[in-house]
Amino acid sequence: MVDSAAAIDLLLKRNSMKLVHGPGPSDEDLDKILRAAMTAPDHGAIRPWRFKIIRGQEAIKEFADLSYKFRQASDSPFDEEKLKSSKAWLYEVPLIIAVATQVNHQVTHKIDEVEQYLATGAAMTQILNASHFLGYGAFWSTGIATYIEEFQEALGFDPLDYRFQGFIAIGTPRVPTPQKDRPDYQEFSQVWP
Ligand SMILES: Cc1cc2nc3c(=O)[nH]c(=O)nc-3n(C[C@H](O)[C@H](O)[C@H](O)COP(=O)(O)O)c2cc1C
Repeated sequence: MVDSAAAIDLLLKRNSMKLVHGPGPSDEDLDKILRAAMTAPDHGAIRPWRFKIIRGQEAIKEFADLSYKFRQASDSPFDEEKLKSSKAWLYEVPLIIAVATQVNHQVTHKIDEVEQYLATGAAMTQILNASHFLGYGAFWSTGIATYIEEFQEALGFDPLDYRFQGFIAIGTPRVPTPQKDRPDYQEFSQVWP
């Protein structure tokens, strides 16, 4: 039987964790994380999300170096200090899931493009939640070169067909995940009418 009190308690303790290192999720855990993503709400069951699994030191370094190459060639390159600290973070990450929405233009008359983005975001949230439930640290980033078209193309997310939504870094927390105080939901809610 599901212990719903424990489940909700765990959910309420979700906090992003940027600083992670190996070990990353096992094959079995990665399978669970991606199956959780597939449970995201999805108008029209069009499954607009696409995942690139970037795993292991060599692939991570390739992803990172490509991001830095495009960022440094852009009109807002990182300064030396920022570049150094970003590398100290990203090179240590054991698993990245890069996510894009493959916009289904055939259904956009019925299911707005924005709804397809929202479904992708919901899938990404399921990835964050499942990673947390399995004891990993996870962090959604749209940093470095996310918005640079050449980088998106290099990942296989041609901006003509895809909207790159950033990447989620997942691994073992390098320090205990800080627990944040969250604002009171009442500040964001009203009873209607
Ligand atoms: C779409 C999206 C993109 C984000 N991109 C970045 C980013 O590039 N850099 C960053 O520091 N935080 C980014 N964040 C925020 C972190 O992932 C995280 O949510 C934030 O540090 C707050 O932590 P919390 O999730 O525990 O509230 C992004 C969040 C979202 C939803």
